[in-house]
Amino acid sequence: MNREELIQEAFKAMKNSYAPYSKYHVGAAILTKDGKVFLGTNIENASLGATNCAERSAVFSAYSNGYTKDTIEALAIVSDGGRVCAPCGICRQVLSELIYGDTPIYLSNGKQSVDMSINKLLPMQFGVEDVVR
Ligand code: THU
Repeated sequence: MNREELIQEAFKAMKNSYAPYSKYHVGAAILTKDGKVFLGTNIENASLGATNCAERSAVFSAYSNGYTKDTIEALAIVSDGGRVCAPCGICRQVLSELIYGDTPIYLSNGKQSVDMSINKLLPMQFGVEDVVR
């Protein structure tokens, strides 16, 4: 599966977005090295704080199915916003632990796309090596 196909998978996930409050719809798709795809979307909650972002939904799904950073090939994140959806701070922190810093992250809103990585999105990371001594 190529970059464009993975982006299309993320748009499929976006159709399942549950975003009655923000009405901002996000989809994510993770490609594994053996060719599987795990989808995620944003799932909001009336408490707002319990909302889960699309990319966290996708990476948690991949891990829930036995995949890890060693077997994750790429991640696509798409939205219906006016510009590409740059992952929120919480997602950057979560992704910094669950995928490699140089794993490709494709951002798209169907009009513009940007290729990123966690190393570019989150400099000077706080991680497991800081906590486990
Ligand atoms: N959202 C994501 O799914 N991913 C991000 O990285 C940014 C924000 C969602 C959360 C919420 O449902 C909506 O977008 C507006 O913040």
